[in-house]
Amino acid sequence: MKAVLSKAVGGPETLVLEELPDPVAGPGQVLLDVKACGVNYPDVLIIEDKYQFRPERPFAPGGEVSGVIAAVGDGVTKFKVGDRVLASTGHGGMAEKLALDENRCTAIPDSMPFDEAAAFILTYGTSYYALKDRGHLKAGETLLVLGAAGGVGLAAVELGKAAGARVIAAASSQEKIDLAIAHGADAGVIYPRGPFDKDGQKALANLIKDACGPNGWDVAYDAVGGDYSEATIRASGWNGRFLVIGFPSGIPKIPLNLTLLKSCDIVGVFWGASVARDPKGHAQNVQELMDLYAAGKIRPHVSERFPLARAGEAIAHLASRKAMGKVVVTND
Ligand SMILES: NC(=O)c1ccc[n+]([C@@H]2O[C@H](COP(=O)([O-])OP(=O)(O)OC[C@H]3O[C@@H](n4cnc5c(N)ncnc54)[C@H](OP(=O)(O)O)[C@@H]3O)[C@@H](O)[C@H]2O)c1
Repeated sequence: MKAVLSKAVGGPETLVLEELPDPVAGPGQVLLDVKACGVNYPDVLIIEDKYQFRPERPFAPGGEVSGVIAAVGDGVTKFKVGDRVLASTGHGGMAEKLALDENRCTAIPDSMPFDEAAAFILTYGTSYYALKDRGHLKAGETLLVLGAAGGVGLAAVELGKAAGARVIAAASSQEKIDLAIAHGADAGVIYPRGPFDKDGQKALANLIKDACGPNGWDVAYDAVGGDYSEATIRASGWNGRFLVIGFPSGIPKIPLNLTLLKSCDIVGVFWGASVARDPKGHAQNVQELMDLYAAGKIRPHVSERFPLARAGEAIAHLASRKAMGKVVVTND
């Protein structure tokens, strides 16, 4: 089989397509014919050794896949050959075949195309856990989403709308705001590209306050970080919940007095670790997400498809802040 490998620390240009022996399904594992692999910001970070996990090299990036089960190992009970599934993999997805624990797989309906299935679990899983379990978002509340046209951001927009919130999308261009509005946001605000000095931060905070209204936001979903975070917290409503999702713009330092002045919470969100710690809660969330998909309330926006041989370009597309919704690597 072919796989795209990271053999040395570096950017997407360092990835190489190589022929490898087919993997074999061990006990409790299934062998997947990978049809598609979703690209996520962690792929940008993992090949540069900047992610929470550092797999041993060589490894293939790619944290989520969809495909068809080609073989099952001893003791597999949930799946059989021919089943269509999606799976979160951590890494290894940018390959033609992948052996992985059956517990990482979720059956998908026949109506779900492989590219959508490969663009589902990381983004909606993260955003659902963030909004429901960490942010306790309620109907009628105001949800502000930063990076609203990105992978996890656009999922948060759709899920916020499905939960009955008033959703304000924040992003760096009109095109990105238009996409978020098409996916359910009630209004949008274009923010400038950072970094910002003190006056720039103040101006950004005012932009967000104007967009959210006099009571500010109840829940802020921050998948951007950098100088955007403090400006956003300055626009918090009373008892707001600020969800820490990711840092494509850098890891911010926040003056703690802001939490006192606003009576707001800064809430960490680590979806991958929560899945390992609470598999039952995760299974429940996956079921609820599948129900929302079946009801037509959520649907991944796959804007670009790259063949496996060009997987590096797909990762570079995200790193350059150009991606709209989801980018997928396909094995057709
Ligand atoms: N906490 C968790 O459990 C969890 C789970 C999954 C992902 N994440 C994190 O969530 C973040 C977003 O992931 P994603 O897969 O949704 O990425 P994505 O699709 O690339 O979206 C990231 C968004 O960040 C904004 N951005 C701001 N500065 C940027 C920069 N310098 N480079 C690239 N984008 C920049 C962009 O929107 P604008 O141009 O509109 O600003 C972009 O749409 C990442 O940090 C990722 O590691 C966290």
